Amino acid sequence: MKPFSSGSFWSSPIAMEFDTKSVRGKSQPDPTTGAIIPPIYQTATYVLDEVGVDKGFDYTRSSNPTRQELEEHLAAIEGGQHAIAFSSGMASADSCMKLLSQGDHVVCCDDVYGGTARLFNNLMTNYGVEFTYVDSQAAENVEIAIRPETKMVWIETPTNPLLKITDLEKVGKIARDNDLIFVVDSTFATPVFLTPLEYGADLVLHSTTKYLSGHNQIIGGVIVTNRTDLFDRLKYIQKSVGAVPSPFDSWLTIIGLKTLHLRMKRHWENAEKVASYLEGHEKVSKVVYPGLESHPMHEVAKAQMKGYSGMISFELKGGLEAGKRLMNSVELCLLAESLGSVETMITHPATMTHAEVPREERLARGFEDGLVRLSVGIEDPEDLISDLEKAFNNV
Ligand SMILES: Cc1ncc(COP(=O)(O)O)c(C=O)c1O
Repeated sequence: MKPFSSGSFWSSPIAMEFDTKSVRGKSQPDPTTGAIIPPIYQTATYVLDEVGVDKGFDYTRSSNPTRQELEEHLAAIEGGQHAIAFSSGMASADSCMKLLSQGDHVVCCDDVYGGTARLFNNLMTNYGVEFTYVDSQAAENVEIAIRPETKMVWIETPTNPLLKITDLEKVGKIARDNDLIFVVDSTFATPVFLTPLEYGADLVLHSTTKYLSGHNQIIGGVIVTNRTDLFDRLKYIQKSVGAVPSPFDSWLTIIGLKTLHLRMKRHWENAEKVASYLEGHEKVSKVVYPGLESHPMHEVAKAQMKGYSGMISFELKGGLEAGKRLMNSVELCLLAESLGSVETMITHPATMTHAEVPREERLARGFEDGLVRLSVGIEDPEDLISDLEKAFNNV
């Protein structure tokens, strides 16, 4: 019996709710041994039965049973037909770029992860692809920026680091009406809280480094799609370039996915508590969290998301110097460049994740030097608040 069949999608006869899919994915116990957790197929290649006849796998750059298991799990929780896993979120973004040709144009939301901006502005422009950045919180800005050469709309929601929210239904319609590939980087939301395919996204991208794996244990990425034409092209790109996750990283991500639904609920609960604490703090001038009524797009977030996730951005009244003192004083919150793990991490986007975004550009869109980003973990929220409270004494 073949444990896996390459390219085909094992469909369960059992209808599953999200939490069940999160735990079980598409997997059955290993048919050979009964192992409850899928084996790690740590192999580069596969022996053929005879010339031209294999068991569905020929070389791990093209496909691997552990990676396939991960891809099926990710497709299941995102509600998509196909998933293609990559060795990083940026490799996923780069593969989307390889769908474009010289002379093509992309309309992109103006607040994107610094690495995405670097890929677009410092690399892709060398290949003749052009980008226009708009504040997509007003959906009409996307439409206004479309040119005859436009081929793609790229949206992050919530964005990194300003937590801007785009109305996916409106932008999805604009993309569809103009025959554009609609890409949504849903890393901050996760499929627990947002499923962009429902709103017309053609490609949903995640850095699986973050919430999906959830424990700061791997670097990875994925693209999920319902469009078989784009899946075929992306699969070809994956095989041609080889930016694939190792079998071990794929396995570690599968283990992380099994608790995604539980972790996300706690990230959200904790973030709500920390955001209200920060909003009431005398030394804080601004808190951005989609779950707060003060967020300008709170109503859209409320309508399209099932929860507000675990990311908060805020500014202190003393600006950059006060922010630095806070970040240097916390003990439980860890000063680190990532997000979406069980540990709470504090980040200074201007010098860390977005260091290569020109200062004038940042300031023009309200991204101040002193902005602090908090990825709220799943510790006891009172411990997090008392850590911040102690640190505020040094500000
Ligand atoms: C929203 C978003 N997309 C993509 C990426 C890139 O992911 P990776 O670091 O896995 O390459 C990041 C990384 O922080 C991110 O925050």
